[in-house]
Amino acid sequence: MLNLSLVGFMGSGKSTVGQRLAVELDMIYVDTDALVEAKAGMSIAEIFAQDGEAAFRELEREVILELCRQTDLVLATGGGAFMDPSVREVLLRSSLVAHLEAPFEALWERIRGDAGRPLLAGEGAYDRMRALFEARLPVYRLAHAAVDARRPVDDVVRELVEVYHAHRRGNEPSRG
Ligand code: S3P
Repeated sequence: MLNLSLVGFMGSGKSTVGQRLAVELDMIYVDTDALVEAKAGMSIAEIFAQDGEAAFRELEREVILELCRQTDLVLATGGGAFMDPSVREVLLRSSLVAHLEAPFEALWERIRGDAGRPLLAGEGAYDRMRALFEARLPVYRLAHAAVDARRPVDDVVRELVEVYHAHRRGNEPSRG
């Protein structure tokens, strides 16, 4: 079956929703951050600290391009992955891409204080993350579908199941 990819800012619930969605759709859940960590043998924070963000982005791109050759996957992508034009192009071509959308303040409440997120480290995190969110939002909106990520997980999952089935029906060749 066609892959389903979740995109959106940090804290939008891509991993939680993705795991549940994979069960509902009888597909395989994949967390691209976890695969990058496995490939590097380090945590994301360590990759950023040791090799820098560009090295992380390169690994992330390799992991996602490889996954896009497979099928039956629900992909929870890292929050920055969809910003890379080559990643975006291949995700949009090989999967139904859904944006888990929420206002910045709601996302900030979920991510603040999370030491595992290297982009949050250092001074002025609120202002930096807000600017990053605003810069990224128009790109996330290139996804095929968007759902309101503030709603309970059950509701988000149910809506995505419907969106996925509707998308597949719409793409089936007509039998006329
Ligand atoms: C990032 C988001 C993180 C992770 C990395 C960079 C980003 O993933 O890939 O820390 O650039 O927004 P989550 O969105 O799963 O937290």
